[in-house]
Amino acid sequence: MSSQRHLLGIRGLSRAEVVSILDQAEVFFEVSRRPVRKVPTLRGKGVINLFFEASTRTRTSFELAGKRLSADVVNISTSTSSVTKGETLLDTVKTLEAMQPDVIVIRHSSSGAPHYVSERVGCSIVNAGDGAHEHPTQALLDAFTIRRAKGTLDKLVVTICGDVLHSRVARSNALLLSLFGCEVRFVGPRTLLPRDVGGYDVKVFDRLEPALEGADVVMVLRIQRERLDGALLPSLREYSKTFGIGPRTLAYAKKDAIVMHPGPMNRGVEIDPSVADGERSSVLDQVEAGVAVRMAVLYQLAGEGGDAHGAAAS
Ligand code: NCD
Repeated sequence: MSSQRHLLGIRGLSRAEVVSILDQAEVFFEVSRRPVRKVPTLRGKGVINLFFEASTRTRTSFELAGKRLSADVVNISTSTSSVTKGETLLDTVKTLEAMQPDVIVIRHSSSGAPHYVSERVGCSIVNAGDGAHEHPTQALLDAFTIRRAKGTLDKLVVTICGDVLHSRVARSNALLLSLFGCEVRFVGPRTLLPRDVGGYDVKVFDRLEPALEGADVVMVLRIQRERLDGALLPSLREYSKTFGIGPRTLAYAKKDAIVMHPGPMNRGVEIDPSVADGERSSVLDQVEAGVAVRMAVLYQLAGEGGDAHGAAAS
């Protein structure tokens, strides 16, 4: 990414660029475990988080990431902004740009919104999730978590389960893991699988058991009720019986398989609480990784690796 001004998606990133972000994140991961969790790296820089969709993890971790790097961070949620008065996305972003931030982080329900904006502004844009399209920092933090747990990202079997149709997490992960020769499997009810997976190097299953066979990583997706049109899923109970990850179904994966979920979880729907809280769960490791990975991304865009002159983590 150091050669790029924006982080819009995993598509377009090379394997070396991904590794460089993950290696940088390792340095910042240690910073977050110190008694004083702050470095001066982005002092004098500005980061604006502009979220047009709900978020707990992503927004908070971008905020903490900026603050731990000593940047000035401002959060805008659209329910309290002029968007409610009818301002367009571009006018909102142009207005914020006039205040000279270095990075604007955008989450939006329309696929392509961050790309559209990035062609029209001078500061760096980071995609924090656009529709069902991409969520690059989630895929990066997932890769960071997998690499720490498994010691490598190369040639793993990763099964991504559930509401793949609506999932930007599934798409970004499939792109990233393919760079490392992983076997990526999508599994879910047919109505929640994308009709066309042409642009992704994945195997598609509509039954859970064969999809889990031999998996090193089981990535569970949230049923996105807000994007579901009722017809796609007859009942959540039925779904949980057929596609929920619980002790019985998890037994098909490798014995040392880890279980991931980007959150927020629907406990008892796509994941059984005993698995979510079990010893193979990496859910909270993912959250911790999120801060370090977002620090690395902000650093590469606005710090020494980007246009400006930050000091390295010290
Ligand atoms: C995901 C998202 O918003 O795409 N959540 C997240 O960023 N941690 C997944 C989801 O909402 O299900």
